[in-house]
Amino acid sequence: MLEVRALSLTELRQRSSEKWREYPADVLPLFVAETDFPLAPEIETALRRAVDLGDTGYIASRTPLASSYAAFARRRFGWEADPARMRSTADVSMGIVEILRRVTQPGERVVVTPPVYPPFYELVAEAGAEVERVPLCDTGTSWELDLDGIRAAFHEGATAILLCNPHNPTGTVHHRDSLRALAELADEFGAAVVSDEIHAPLAQPGTGFTPFLDCGEAAERVGYAVVSASKAFNLAGLKCALMVTASDTTHAVLRGLPIEVEWRTGQFGLLAAVAAFSEASDDWLDGLLRTLDENRLLLEDLLSSRLPEARYRMPDAGYLAWIDLTGLGWGENPARRILKDARVALHYGPAFGVEGAGHVRLNFGTSPEIITEAIERIASLRDR
Ligand SMILES: Cc1ncc(COP(=O)(O)O)c(C=O)c1O
Repeated sequence: MLEVRALSLTELRQRSSEKWREYPADVLPLFVAETDFPLAPEIETALRRAVDLGDTGYIASRTPLASSYAAFARRRFGWEADPARMRSTADVSMGIVEILRRVTQPGERVVVTPPVYPPFYELVAEAGAEVERVPLCDTGTSWELDLDGIRAAFHEGATAILLCNPHNPTGTVHHRDSLRALAELADEFGAAVVSDEIHAPLAQPGTGFTPFLDCGEAAERVGYAVVSASKAFNLAGLKCALMVTASDTTHAVLRGLPIEVEWRTGQFGLLAAVAAFSEASDDWLDGLLRTLDENRLLLEDLLSSRLPEARYRMPDAGYLAWIDLTGLGWGENPARRILKDARVALHYGPAFGVEGAGHVRLNFGTSPEIITEAIERIASLRDR
């Protein structure tokens, strides 16, 4: 297994992406979902070759992207996806909006499950629909879909659900049983399930990942997955995602999308995604997962020793930690004080929904040194 280690702070500060440009140099940025690791070697080779050739035109009409993803899904999730039932686009957000536009009528309601990735609220509105909030149930040890609440929402006329699996910000991987139950509910009410699976390659091996479309015939009838290599392999700026279906009817919806939706796929994004999904990158991804596993444990140790008031449940997937800081008494939005006085940038909890009051989201896709320094800085505020 390859060792995947983050770049040094000096190298990272030379990056020009959002994470490293939004705040002044004295701020440790642990907010936006970018990671601090070098590119996987296969991706680096593919992009260098394209640069050497000036291979920077439009994407071709026939590409290996869909079959690469299908092979990835078979190896990593044990799922047989049909490449003929997929289409690419620029990013997951665009895929979600384009699908929602077609499976809902203007003004219809789409269920979201807060606390949830803040742009979901805007993506539903961009598609012309309205948000219906059905919060996740906090069982005390995990977060679960509120299937009774979702049933009630469908019963009262919601026509789709925008699922986040693995869930951002909690890192929850939903179990096959609840996904199956969701599929059956949606099927009963004729609602669509749009499943954002952008964090799926980052499910830890102990948990595994069940694609929504692999949850039986009802899921195949109602489901649309939107997937990408962009979170695991840090390719968000290159613009490539896939919309995936598993039935003729749902695929007809994808086929009905204007060709422009597909043309917006970035050529570099496509080349990088094919390299990321190839078997040659599995070793790198396994190395990344091991590093992230170490980081989530490190964060747990640091929080319990330095910030014992913090409540944190280790995520099953990804590099985002959802931390409840209510016990510190730093108000509705503790990330504000942490940015101002500790010079650590975290995502604001309330942006994820009212359930996020008193919470922060911390990105641990970085080095142990940066994580440690960030928690030390935050802990030092307790004594002020
Ligand atoms: C759950 C989720 N969906 C979508 C996105 C955005 O993806 P994209 O840049 O492909 O639109 C993110 C980014 O962090 C995310 O966490």
